[in-house]
Amino acid sequence: MPDYNTVLTLLQKHGQEHILAGYDNLSANERDQLLEDCARVDFGWLDARWAEMQASGGSAADAEIEVAPVVELPKTEAEKARYDEARAIGEEQLRAGRVAAFLVAGGQGTRLGFSGPKGCFPVGPISGRTLFKWHAEQILARSRRYGAPIPFYLMTSRDNDADTRRFFADNNYFGLPEGDVVFFQQEMVPCLDLNGKLMLATPSTLAMNPNGHGGALSGLHRSGAIDDMRRRGIEYISYFQVDNPLVTICDPVFIGLHVQAGSEMSSKVLEKNSPAERIGVVCSQNGRPAVVEYIDLDEATQKALGADGRLKFWAGSIAIHIINTTFVERVAGGAGLPWHQSRKKVAYFDGEKVVKPGSENAIKFETFVFDALPFAEKTLNMEVQREHEFAPVKNAEGVDSVATSRELLTKYFAEWLREAGITVSTPEAIEISPLYSLDAGELRTKFKPEGFTFERSIVLG
Ligand code: UD1
Repeated sequence: MPDYNTVLTLLQKHGQEHILAGYDNLSANERDQLLEDCARVDFGWLDARWAEMQASGGSAADAEIEVAPVVELPKTEAEKARYDEARAIGEEQLRAGRVAAFLVAGGQGTRLGFSGPKGCFPVGPISGRTLFKWHAEQILARSRRYGAPIPFYLMTSRDNDADTRRFFADNNYFGLPEGDVVFFQQEMVPCLDLNGKLMLATPSTLAMNPNGHGGALSGLHRSGAIDDMRRRGIEYISYFQVDNPLVTICDPVFIGLHVQAGSEMSSKVLEKNSPAERIGVVCSQNGRPAVVEYIDLDEATQKALGADGRLKFWAGSIAIHIINTTFVERVAGGAGLPWHQSRKKVAYFDGEKVVKPGSENAIKFETFVFDALPFAEKTLNMEVQREHEFAPVKNAEGVDSVATSRELLTKYFAEWLREAGITVSTPEAIEISPLYSLDAGELRTKFKPEGFTFERSIVLG
């Protein structure tokens, strides 16, 4: 247990002693908690972040970028044959049990305004199937299809870990073997107010945030998850985000292209729907593969056109990757990912009460998983069709909201039904469980259109 004087000296050395101002009013347990929180802060790290921020004037420099190669959607017969070849290779890896699913679900999901882990959000257009259920069922269905286990790793963070574990346990792990669902927590880092001072979240705890999805790499390593993968013979990690029910987890074509290219980290991309779409851009920076966030690109770069008249930087990242376990080990053991800072609204204890600020009052520090790309010896980018792979739930309303996500799911499933020979005009809602069909091809084999009349909505499975 750290003692008061040691902690006070440490805080004074870094100009942060204000944080103990209310110490005398705390109970014995609260005092211990506050001292522990303070003693855990890596002040060398924090001072370096603040200095970096001062040097950059608080905003990231506009990135100088070049176009990166992408395997575009197959159009010619030769390209389709290449896809089939890749699919066969990916399926072989799945049958051999060399692929794991990995969901990063440690984010705070503040934009959605949903209390509780974002994965518990009901996105199913009819049944209200949650994001977690959707993902878990897809993993189960794929593991059944290939007759091999697909262990499911989930990264949580301090604030949602217990709720996430309980949700899975209460739902019997959605049919997955309990031993194949592995949770680990990412690390937290303190945030600072706009003057570089630590803040209290409650009278006895510091305001902190998860260290970004880049924390996945060190987290996999530190938690022992990567050793667990090695024991199971996992070579490829299918990485995805919690907010997208349309993601194809452990996509055999993607795995196959990744293996064929000898890539260490591969990314799925889609054509941006406008220069200002709020997604990262897959590109090359200083001659190395990279994803650059939309906020770090100036307007001219976002709007630049290529020789073919379409956006030069058309390839938007949808945060779906295949990553080699050996690459995770190498990066996690290396120098670490760069830190990004952003201004956010962070609730704080002002000495009397918790204040929810109306405007940005704090700096959060995070690392991003795609910053591992420049460390890879080989990467691959694969284009996907937006309507088939991207229906994120990010906002409560408007763009990328639950309404748009449900609409996109319905549209996609309507396509499957049409391919199965059913006349579908303007459906209200369609929902197909991954356990019923993983794709249009599987639906065709199961669903017989004879004698079936489609009305306005249907849920299968
Ligand atoms: C992200 C990407 C963006 C991409 C878009 C596609 C970043 C900075 N940007 O944006 O390039 O085009 O998705 O949808 O990521 N998470 C953690 N721990 C954390 C922070 C986040 O596990 O500390 C998880 C979240 O739970 C979520 C995912 O990472 O599953 C994405 O986080 P979010 O902050 O929502 O990213 P976006 O800003 O939507």
